[in-house]
Amino acid sequence: MKTGDSPRTGTVPILASISGVFISFEGLDGCGKTTQAALLAEAAAAAGREVVPVREPGGTSPGERVRAILLDPALEIEPWAEALLYAAARAQLVAEVIRPALERGATVIADRYVDSSLAYQGCARGLGVDEVLAVNRVATRGLLPDRTVLLVLGAGEAAGRRGEPDRIEAEGSEFHTRVADGFADAARRFPERIAVVDASGTRDQVAERVRAAVGL
Ligand code: TYD
Repeated sequence: MKTGDSPRTGTVPILASISGVFISFEGLDGCGKTTQAALLAEAAAAAGREVVPVREPGGTSPGERVRAILLDPALEIEPWAEALLYAAARAQLVAEVIRPALERGATVIADRYVDSSLAYQGCARGLGVDEVLAVNRVATRGLLPDRTVLLVLGAGEAAGRRGEPDRIEAEGSEFHTRVADGFADAARRFPERIAVVDASGTRDQVAERVRAAVGL
């Protein structure tokens, strides 16, 4: 578990530690992070760890209601209202699920976390990465993952893997290019935490790269 963003060594095998470990998966819609998060959860459970998978937005009763608002294509939501709703769902998830799990020594595997807000709201919506980070520091009380796996796939390839679009996925290709820029910026900002992983190839090839990135 990590509070704040002091530097740490990128090569530390995160899952070798015996205390609570927090891993997040990030990337464009369609990059395969949900599949890879599930595969890592299976591998960590097989290695004897208690695994707590979470997904954002959502993962709690209040958070799932906020998710329904956020992804409803019929709603027009102002960019700052959107950013604050994501942060509200996250605040609930951290307090109700993530922090207690880390405190009892579990491995938390999150399908999206703060970096999604930096990329989608801070960068693609143009709210400013520093401003969105500041709001999220308050919402999470400074909790950042030990390791973030950023799955990188060309925007066209990711779009081709998506199903029926939700409110955010329905944005145009320029929006998704800005999201990809936002993730690249986050990876430069937090090089010790964020491992950039090539998401092309087969499911098993990517899973192997992910396990190497987290030291499992
Ligand atoms: P996701 O759970 O990946 O959607 P799905 O279950 O359909 O794969 O995320 C939902 C959408 O919310 C996705 O388009 C990205 C967006 N999002 C943000 O814009 N900001 C955030 O902070 C988060 C967590 C997600």
